[in-house]
Amino acid sequence: MARSAKLVTVALEAAGLSKRFAGRVAVHNVSFTLKAGEVLALIGPNGAGKTTLLSMLAGGLAPSAGELHPSGAAGIGWVPQQTAIYSKLSIAENLRLFARLEGVTEPETAVDAMLEQTGLRERSDDAVGRLSGGNRQRVNIAVGLIANPAVLLLDEPTASLDPRQRARLWEFINLRVAAGTSVAFATHEIGEAERYASQLLLLADGEMLFLGSPAELCTAAQEGNLDRAFLALLAARGH
Ligand SMILES: Nc1ncnc2c1ncn2[C@@H]1O[C@H](COP(=O)(O)OP(=O)(O)OP(=O)(O)O)[C@@H](O)[C@H]1O
Ligand SMILES: [Mg+2]
Repeated sequence: MARSAKLVTVALEAAGLSKRFAGRVAVHNVSFTLKAGEVLALIGPNGAGKTTLLSMLAGGLAPSAGELHPSGAAGIGWVPQQTAIYSKLSIAENLRLFARLEGVTEPETAVDAMLEQTGLRERSDDAVGRLSGGNRQRVNIAVGLIANPAVLLLDEPTASLDPRQRARLWEFINLRVAAGTSVAFATHEIGEAERYASQLLLLADGEMLFLGSPAELCTAAQEGNLDRAFLALLAARGH
């Protein structure tokens, strides 16, 4: 009986990616592959280069060196830490505006799909400024997803949310992951990285100290707990 081969599609590939700002290295020689439907967490101390790396992946910042496939913003959804949505506009108006800005061919269909997926249809006429932090962040992510990108990049998406709002937001993101969207996100919550990511990329002072699964990080640091493994690996490398 013929068996169909399981094709592994690469959604995003970075090879030797670096960024300098006026002689200062923010990201140095980062390489990784993100497969379709895979979730990667960027972890590392403040100033490690996580936002700089995400900005390059999003096509918003030109690398100083290295290769990126695909390059540019096509097929990439970008959810920056500072929300770009307009607080005085309603949820539907924001989605419609960004669908047009992104050149979505059928904006109303895309808006409708996002209202459905966010579970915010009954709030669609409410001004975004009146929403809870968790719901506002759903709209922010829906804007990143409006053009149905293959890859979604998120910078500390749950930073200001309580644990319940955080779990609800991940339910929403994971629906897209189950449908084949790849995700890379930055976080300071090691527990969140462990729970939702299959790959961890540990950055410190722009250097990639580790790339692998949470279990592999524990093994590398000889620690049973990921929080301790993270700190131990940083300390061992002088951070
Ligand atoms: N536009 C810029 N011009 C000059 N330096 C920059 C610029 N953007 C970032 N940097 C520097 O690059 C380094 C990495 O910063 P980045 O914001 O990427 O870190 P991060 O890991 O996202 O930190 P945090 O956890 O605090 O968000 C820092 O030293 C920062 O000061
Ligand atoms: Mg950052």
